[in-house]
Amino acid sequence: MTELAIRGLSKRFGDVAAVDGFELRIGDHELISLLGPSGCGKTTTLRCIAGFESPTAGRILFDDRDVVGLPPERRNIGMVFQNYALFPHMTVRQNLAFGLEMRGVSKGEIGQRIARVLETVQLGDLGERYPRQLSGGQQQRIALARAMVVEPSILLLDEPLANLDAKLREEMRFFVRSLQKRVGITTVYVTHDQAEAMVISDRIVVMFDGRIHQVGAPDEIYSRPVSREVANFIGLSNFVDGRVLGAGDNGEFRLETQVGTLRCAYSETLAEGREVALIVRPEAIVLSGAAPADSAGSAGNAIAGRVSERYFLGNITGYRIACADGLVLQVQDDPWAGFGVGDEVWCTFDAAHAWIIPD
Ligand SMILES: Nc1ncnc2c1ncn2[C@@H]1O[C@H](COP(=O)(O)OP(=O)(O)OP(=O)(O)O)[C@@H](O)[C@H]1O
Ligand SMILES: [Mg+2]
Repeated sequence: MTELAIRGLSKRFGDVAAVDGFELRIGDHELISLLGPSGCGKTTTLRCIAGFESPTAGRILFDDRDVVGLPPERRNIGMVFQNYALFPHMTVRQNLAFGLEMRGVSKGEIGQRIARVLETVQLGDLGERYPRQLSGGQQQRIALARAMVVEPSILLLDEPLANLDAKLREEMRFFVRSLQKRVGITTVYVTHDQAEAMVISDRIVVMFDGRIHQVGAPDEIYSRPVSREVANFIGLSNFVDGRVLGAGDNGEFRLETQVGTLRCAYSETLAEGREVALIVRPEAIVLSGAAPADSAGSAGNAIAGRVSERYFLGNITGYRIACADGLVLQVQDDPWAGFGVGDEVWCTFDAAHAWIIPD
């Protein structure tokens, strides 16, 4: 089992800084996702770890051993490419045997390992089929099996579920996660799908333009994003611009905003007068028809508005609420919430459910 450390990794292609100062330690048994929009450097980072790309700067350590300069076949990694890249003219069994034969594993041992790995991905009886005789999900699992059968110390997966339909993709998330936990292999998983990253990962690395913005557990990234980009990329967000009025004794800050004074939790210190954005998620806002009794008091936040749009998603009802000064709040309420377009409402939320992003 292997710990992976990436120190100051940069990769330039001419003028493009595809990866810029990437710094991360990945623990033994850990599943890390690289999450970010197209072109942010996810695949390049993965290819540097695998050895298909040589870094412009930085070190990549497998258990304290620098692997930069080693070719891929000497790094003992397993990799799944986005398009599976199964060999079409070989059966499943031959696909799985290939890497083992390259490594000089004995015939008997190859047979045993293939039987075991087919069992693991629950495709024990498909060994004699060709890739074209498999469904997309089965091909996906064979690609995973092929990456794992060589018993790699690190598993690298590049958008491994991207080609599957929505339903199967959701099922495969749980499959990949439980498989990874069972086998316990250190894994780097690339995706641009935030829900997939949230379901699968121990920690998520959020990247933009080759740089890491934030590293954290899924709930941490969601509830305490460090930048507008992160907040916008992961889930829906409401931003209210404001200026710090001061801190209360309970670690809450008061902000002066276009819709009055708002209160917000924040763990760092903030100077009075500082321009910040308050962020509150749609599901943290509760709608009510009447002004809360203590809307001017200390309990929470209340913003008056009018329902401008309402949509039904089955598990929730979504609203857009037009408030003072052009502010539009997105709100998600339970599916039975009874407000309609044109209704005057109050949007209330707890200071503990809001967060501050220093601009
Ligand atoms: N071989 C290359 N030559 C020149 N530029 C490259 C090369 N490979 C990648 N890039 C550039 O580096 C940047 C990062 O690319 P990369 O493939 O790592 O992005 P990504 O995050 O995997 O995106 P996607 O989600 O679209 O797969 C992009 O601007 C891309 O155009
Ligand atoms: Mg990519």
